[in-house]
Amino acid sequence: MRVLVAGGAGYIGSHVVLALQQVGHQVIVLDNLQTGHREAVENVPFVLGDIADETLLIRLVSEYKIEAAVHLAAESTVGLSMQDPGLFFKHNTGKGAVFLDTLVKSGVKILVFSSSAAVYGSPINMPICETHRLNPVNVYGATKIMFEEMMRWYEQVYGLRWIALRYFNAAGAAVGHGIGEDHNPETHLIPIILQTVLGKRQKVNIFGNDYSTPDGTCIRDYIHVSDLSRAHVLAMDALSAGEAGGIYNLGNGQGFSVQEVVKVCERVTGQKIAAEIAPRRQGDPPILVASADRIKSDLGWTAEHPELEGIVTSAWKWHRSHPWGYSKPVLKDERK
Ligand code: UFG
Repeated sequence: MRVLVAGGAGYIGSHVVLALQQVGHQVIVLDNLQTGHREAVENVPFVLGDIADETLLIRLVSEYKIEAAVHLAAESTVGLSMQDPGLFFKHNTGKGAVFLDTLVKSGVKILVFSSSAAVYGSPINMPICETHRLNPVNVYGATKIMFEEMMRWYEQVYGLRWIALRYFNAAGAAVGHGIGEDHNPETHLIPIILQTVLGKRQKVNIFGNDYSTPDGTCIRDYIHVSDLSRAHVLAMDALSAGEAGGIYNLGNGQGFSVQEVVKVCERVTGQKIAAEIAPRRQGDPPILVASADRIKSDLGWTAEHPELEGIVTSAWKWHRSHPWGYSKPVLKDERK
């Protein structure tokens, strides 16, 4: 199929592009490069632009004969969403609405949407199923629910066929493909730990050790970005085969505390990591662990890299070979 990937130059987007290409889909990337990297999608037709540029979208759909889309173009820094909610409502909800409307009216009625575990807020049951109550504790999560709701209405009114994938903690990199995680500023735990190993930071701040978890630090469910990306392919294929859409969690069903992640990173890198307890970060739920049973049974998804050690190893290969991310020359061939 000819698939438009909005936000395809981002960390997860570039891995989704790779996964789609690997099974023979023709991919066109639309990205404004606000946070994405042109280098992450070098061998793909690339269009620099905004998801809310109706004229551009209509032209793209017609020129490339787009049949389906993946939407990952969103503001995603959780903390920022609580400092500037308007930015998130304008971008994720407002521009998202223009994107959705234009696509559907141009005849593109298959959409895979990048949603998030942030829709659940502080969960009451673990592992979290898709039927769990939605109770976001940040604006970012609220905008993800809003877009899911929009898709529901577009299904009813226009026959949109859609799948929302609620990601838990994406990590790692597709080794050998020259793509990996490069956010500026970086806020995610694993890259921050690895940047510390590389001497780019003095220490890791562990945000709180007084949570109601065995070691007091927050527990998360880390999923390899390539496993997460393959789920987009399965979702796309299911929709194009006429199967029902819906909502799916994406995680490994296993939780690791911040302290445990630090230890795994020490094992993988062979280095002692300087870490210090810092105050809690606002809006962090103590535990987030997914039940991915629904996507396993409906779409046949399984994780190829479920072990945290393997996920960190792939991330470490990327960081070691790209210590400055995409912005500077590669130091060492990551394939070695
Ligand atoms: N953490 C630290 N120190 C750091 C960075 C993170 O202790 O320097 C902790 C956080 O407090 C959290 C855990 O490490 O407990 C993981 O934090 P990340 O920032 O890596 O990831 P989050 O769980 O906050 O966020 C992820 C996704 C979001 C999504 C969210 C759902 O990145 O997009 O899960 O809650 F919204």
